[in-house]
Amino acid sequence: MNTIIQNDLTYVAGTYARFPAALVNGKGAKAYDETGKEYIDLGSGIAVNTFGYSDEIWKNAVINQIDAISHTSNLYYTDPCTTLAKMLCEKTGMKKVFFGNSGAEANECAVKVARKWAYEKYGDESHNNVITLINSFHGRTIAMLSATGQEHFHHFFGPFPEGFLYAEANNLKSVRKLIEENKCCAVLIEIIQGEGGVMPLSSSFISGVQALCSENDLLFMVDEVQTGNGRTGELFAYMNYGVQPDVVSTAKGLGGGLPIGACLIGDKAKDALKSGDHGSTFGGNPIACAGAVSILERLTDDVMKGVKERSSYIFDALNGAKNVKSISGIGLMIGIEVEGNAREIVNRLLERGVLALTAKTKIRLLPPLNIDFDDLKKAIGILKEEIAK
Ligand SMILES: Cc1ncc(COP(=O)(O)O)c(C=O)c1O
Repeated sequence: MNTIIQNDLTYVAGTYARFPAALVNGKGAKAYDETGKEYIDLGSGIAVNTFGYSDEIWKNAVINQIDAISHTSNLYYTDPCTTLAKMLCEKTGMKKVFFGNSGAEANECAVKVARKWAYEKYGDESHNNVITLINSFHGRTIAMLSATGQEHFHHFFGPFPEGFLYAEANNLKSVRKLIEENKCCAVLIEIIQGEGGVMPLSSSFISGVQALCSENDLLFMVDEVQTGNGRTGELFAYMNYGVQPDVVSTAKGLGGGLPIGACLIGDKAKDALKSGDHGSTFGGNPIACAGAVSILERLTDDVMKGVKERSSYIFDALNGAKNVKSISGIGLMIGIEVEGNAREIVNRLLERGVLALTAKTKIRLLPPLNIDFDDLKKAIGILKEEIAK
């Protein structure tokens, strides 16, 4: 066993079921292990490496920022943080942004916004319930485990915070019932349940949730941690459905490889958080933000067109292929339901130099948005062969 793996098994908390590969460098969609073996990566570090490994433009933005100023506290203003916030607002119509360092933190902020907004409206903490969906995933902090609508995340770490209610995905009656029977402040949904098995919500459900929120004066909040930043062929996945959320959380692909989380707050709740209500030492870090600005600048219509083309190629190649039962997802967030065991297939792919992911019982693909067509074709060819076995 190589020393990286040995030391990891000895010294790193065993929270991850890692694949047997230690990656030491990468460029574009290709990564290499310490023996020099090449892998085509169809996972992008779980939707993080938006333009692949060590992308030149992102790298230069980060390096230039390290040269300029790498970190200061949130007691001072910095350009990358304010530029990024302005860009996010201008591209989404949102009004304010809070920066953290992860998806879970972006969602924590969303819940704080909703509860503070309701507090200011009612003058007390009575309307504190946030409705999330069964089979959702919102992160690993104690509160976000509570927000996550999957039973098996609600063990071992209790007591869990109260104030989360779970509705059935694609069932508006279930959302309406919870709203009628409880004092709520928000509904939080993923447009495509990623960890839940790449399950897109129906268009009528998404617009129905927005309508229920506005009828009942609740915040309509969308978790775009995995779906955001061009992944679905639109800047944010909600944009595929013509809805306008009150709060959007995002992370992963925004950073392009550095930790960042952002909670975007719309007009309705833009003044909910006041001085002292929230904070983060590293939130809005200049290096992470400079990298994110360079990513966001490049999520152009042309790149979105490329996402859609690559997506169509994958769907066309796998539709009707041997042992493929169904394909779900939008853009370059794709779930493949197969006859065999997804994890075993992904293990075999690794041996053959292709990195892919699983989500529940599916194979999950989240390739870089600009993956070379040659790399994509080669990797999908190998994927097809392994699924067919
Ligand atoms: C939809 C969604 N929300 C939240 C998270 C948590 O993000 P992080 O691991 O950055 O805290 C994830 C991570 O997979 C996610 O997919």
